[in-house]
Amino acid sequence: MKLALRWHVLLLGFLLGTSGACAADQPTPSTQAAQLAERPGHAGIASANKLATEAGFEVLAKGGNAFDAAIAVASTLSVVEPESSGIGGGFMATMYIAGNKRTVFIDARETAPAAVNPKDYLNPDGTPNRDTALKGPLSAGIPGEPAGLVWLAKNYGKLPLSASLAPAIRTARDGFKPDDRLLGAIKEEQKNLERWPASAEKFLPNGNAPAAGETWRDPGQAHTLELLANYGDAGFYSGETAQKLVDAVHAAGGNWTLKDLASYRVKERTPITIDYHGYKIITAPPPSSGGVAIAEILNILSGFDLSKLDQAHRVHLTIEAMRRAFRDHNDYLGDPDFVKMPLNMLLSPYYADGLRQSILPDKATPSSMLAPSGGQDPGMHTTHFSIIDADGNMVAITSTVNYLLGSTFVAKGTGVLLNDEMDDFALVPNKPNVYGLLGSTANAPEPGKRMLSSMSPSIVIGPDRTAVIGSPGGSTIITQVLEGILAFIDGGDAHQVVAKKRFHHQFMPDVVMVEPGAFDAETTNALTQMGYSFKERGPWGFMNVVIWDRRTNKLDAASDPRRDDGLGKVQ
Ligand code: GLY
Repeated sequence: MKLALRWHVLLLGFLLGTSGACAADQPTPSTQAAQLAERPGHAGIASANKLATEAGFEVLAKGGNAFDAAIAVASTLSVVEPESSGIGGGFMATMYIAGNKRTVFIDARETAPAAVNPKDYLNPDGTPNRDTALKGPLSAGIPGEPAGLVWLAKNYGKLPLSASLAPAIRTARDGFKPDDRLLGAIKEEQKNLERWPASAEKFLPNGNAPAAGETWRDPGQAHTLELLANYGDAGFYSGETAQKLVDAVHAAGGNWTLKDLASYRVKERTPITIDYHGYKIITAPPPSSGGVAIAEILNILSGFDLSKLDQAHRVHLTIEAMRRAFRDHNDYLGDPDFVKMPLNMLLSPYYADGLRQSILPDKATPSSMLAPSGGQDPGMHTTHFSIIDADGNMVAITSTVNYLLGSTFVAKGTGVLLNDEMDDFALVPNKPNVYGLLGSTANAPEPGKRMLSSMSPSIVIGPDRTAVIGSPGGSTIITQVLEGILAFIDGGDAHQVVAKKRFHHQFMPDVVMVEPGAFDAETTNALTQMGYSFKERGPWGFMNVVIWDRRTNKLDAASDPRRDDGLGKVQ
């Protein structure tokens, strides 16, 4: 029924004949192809932690490429930023391989264990059990990150896996001084960490979070990383580590088996690629909803000349495009290996034409007029890094254990903090997850299925500049990356792109989340007159961007000033 309605909109757009995101229809910035650089000759890395960025450069100096550096950055983040990502979680990567000018998407997302049971996420009275969804081993999917790192080394790197994992192993073994963000996360989750002895042993030495300035060691994770370095997939998904993971999960009431681990597979997928005003945007396909939503929003916006509008109308049209894209996200998207999705429709410029016609020029469309859906405050507990190497290879990786410190459950004897990614499934139909997102049966949990993600690692290739971009932020990942892409297309440098004030709408709740200072009083007034209501919130993301200006052949790397400025580096 819903699908039929959408096709009606599609047909309307077609009859009205206003084509959407076709680069040829749009004015394009002038190109000077003959003068554009073919390779940067130096490298740029922007990540959420200085030690991780340095690990990437260390591996580049050993002769590695961007993909080896990505292994070093991701594995070091597993040690120094465990509140956001790690080998107990999963990642998604959008990559450009300079040698053959190919783009590829690596899906190292977690999967549901075979024994997944929706009843485990309900209280006896049938209400959602938010504890099993977010804490402890039932909240954890089978990790994809270790297999993803092995895959990168085997298929794209120049160095052996052990060389790229060496900085992380050294940091875990020798220790490091945790930053304020990690110390804050441990304090915030202390009560949950105390529930499981191995979690307390790792994160609460002497019963409390490490003191500021104290050196903190993670010998358990160092050992697990060494097994991965020496044996590849077999070092994590079978043998000692696998047995310890399964034993620990079972002892705490979870349901993983050795077979779940042994059957985990990385998937290579074709990224979503769209053209917008002469810029090629290469981004994440399902099981991320990010690329579909970004494409849908840009396709809608491509029918307007935003540069000719005042800020209020520019924001109005962008919010309405976000609203419509998130409605479709809730209704249709899931793991492409399990569900049939109308991607041709959702990505079609004609579908966008129809949606565009449904936007009123000076008035908000209440979400209740579009279709049913509920929600709450999104979180910020994932990580993103961007790399461009001297040859022009590019990697955008968003990696996650889901919410702050994942499930807070460390599997005894491994040092591995497990994710709580099961909450990214629609565990209870039409009940919001921790990010306020709703889902349909398309994203219901099933054995071996990947839960829908918002991760949107992206590469934007313009006529003369290229950006590698992404951000954490739960459901706001999608709109933050979208706004970063628009800031880049507007000519922003790396710092301007990451610093740009942000806003977000996700269909339900029907409210515009806004960063203080994003709109001036006149714009806020005009938008209020149009029918919008606002909720100020923070923090906003931790965007990490590297930009290559192919005219000057300069790289520019920047980290989000809201969190930790100065983490982007070029050398
Ligand atoms: N766990 C956050 C996401 O994948 O969207």
